[in-house]
Amino acid sequence: MPVDMPDAIAHRILKHFAENARELPWRNPPGQALPLDDPQWPFRVWLSEIMLQQTTVAAVKPYFEAFISLWPSISALAAAADEDVMRAWAGLGYYARARNLLACARAIMADHGGVFPADETELRRLPGIGRYTAAAISAIAFGRRAVVVDGNVERVVARLFAEPQKAKLYALADRITPTDNAGDFAQAMMDLGATVCTPRNPRCQICPVRADCRGRENPEKFPSKPARLARPERQGTAWWISCDDHVLLVTRQPKGLLGGMRGLPTTDWSENLDAPMLFKGEWRRYGMVTHIFTHFRLSLSVMGIDVESGCKLPFVGEWWPKSQIVEAGLPTLFAKAAQLARAMEERNES
Ligand code: ADE
Repeated sequence: MPVDMPDAIAHRILKHFAENARELPWRNPPGQALPLDDPQWPFRVWLSEIMLQQTTVAAVKPYFEAFISLWPSISALAAAADEDVMRAWAGLGYYARARNLLACARAIMADHGGVFPADETELRRLPGIGRYTAAAISAIAFGRRAVVVDGNVERVVARLFAEPQKAKLYALADRITPTDNAGDFAQAMMDLGATVCTPRNPRCQICPVRADCRGRENPEKFPSKPARLARPERQGTAWWISCDDHVLLVTRQPKGLLGGMRGLPTTDWSENLDAPMLFKGEWRRYGMVTHIFTHFRLSLSVMGIDVESGCKLPFVGEWWPKSQIVEAGLPTLFAKAAQLARAMEERNES
């Protein structure tokens, strides 16, 4: 039973990891000494963990590679222009992470002499680092014992102990976390959750701890899922204002949703679709884009107009060449709207 055999469970999970670990660009191969003489090693672990918050490994890989080649060190990232970092982050979502990433890099340079702290409590004082991320960095980058519990780990532990209650899972994860190899163990649990102990149709027949698992008769019962609240709907209008092969982009307020990112000018996102036009003119209705945010679903109507060069507009923006719209670093919502507008323009021209 897992309760009585925490070391045996950790041992089996670590052995399975040694034989099956996914090869990931930020990862030290299992069982190998940590590259602690590489000053950029904790930086890479931190960067990967921030990117992996709420995002899949597959989505993160190309962003991680791009960031490391643009800014190979904590000092390079701390010195980067905000706008360049936001642009490189575009498409990854949850943009507060990118703002915190920069704030954290700068705090490490200003307050920690450019060196990441190894201690969980100190790590948690830094922007963007909560309980999970502090534990992950302390264990994975520095090999310290820490209890690392993300969604995948929760599921593995809930099934292993047949424990439906989320609030109890941290203590149970603590019970099976070994003193040594805590970083490998954390990643072994994550890989197990991602590849074997999957939310649906878990592959119990290849699980290294199937004999210990109290939930194996009915794994999909654990952990119990809170009732899903329906996502409210919001609506708005985005304006595609063209002038001589350029489109007008604005930079959003630093705080709030998609804060600090470039985008199309829009109404607030709550009113009904028949929002007044920004100014009088021959507006074209291009269609709708929808986007799912964590707390609501947005339907954005996209309206287009051509204006004369030098005309007065009711806000400050920058004229961006349409052929280079990809380089503007638009978040996915506005990238979808731009794609729609360009497709409609092409159709109208032909
Ligand atoms: N998810 C979050 N951190 C991870 C890591 N280090 N390896 C695999 N999946 C992860």
